[in-house]
Amino acid sequence: MDAIDETAAVDLSQHPTNDAPTGEPRTRWILTDTPVPPPGASTRVVVEGRAVAIFNVGGRLYGLASECGHRGAPLEQGSVKDGAVSCNKHGAQFRLDSGTVVGGNIFVRRSTHPVRTYTVQSRGVNVAVGVRPLEEGQ
Ligand code: FES
Repeated sequence: MDAIDETAAVDLSQHPTNDAPTGEPRTRWILTDTPVPPPGASTRVVVEGRAVAIFNVGGRLYGLASECGHRGAPLEQGSVKDGAVSCNKHGAQFRLDSGTVVGGNIFVRRSTHPVRTYTVQSRGVNVAVGVRPLEEGQ
């Protein structure tokens, strides 16, 4: 795992590729100075106070809220298998593409909520995170 990187990020709101379709909540792209993790690895970035776990699965990037929906352990430290990350604290599992809870023992699942997802891209060698306005309760 890479070390936590909480350094300043660059707001790409005016970037020419920041072209959210009309009528949808606008996504602002934040370019971090965190390198894209290699395939099979993960890292953590903080953008606008939000910690995001970044996973590289076979060259495709996924972003989830870092904080586990059970008791808040850092999901970037979990293990990835079959499109889901397993929290290394108590074993709750979350789909990388939706953040929904898909595994863990019954006691853990009962007290676990889904986690927010983020659109993530590589921009050059670094990670860029798409940030949408927070919805109620997130
Ligand atoms: S903190 Fe993640 S499963 Fe408990």
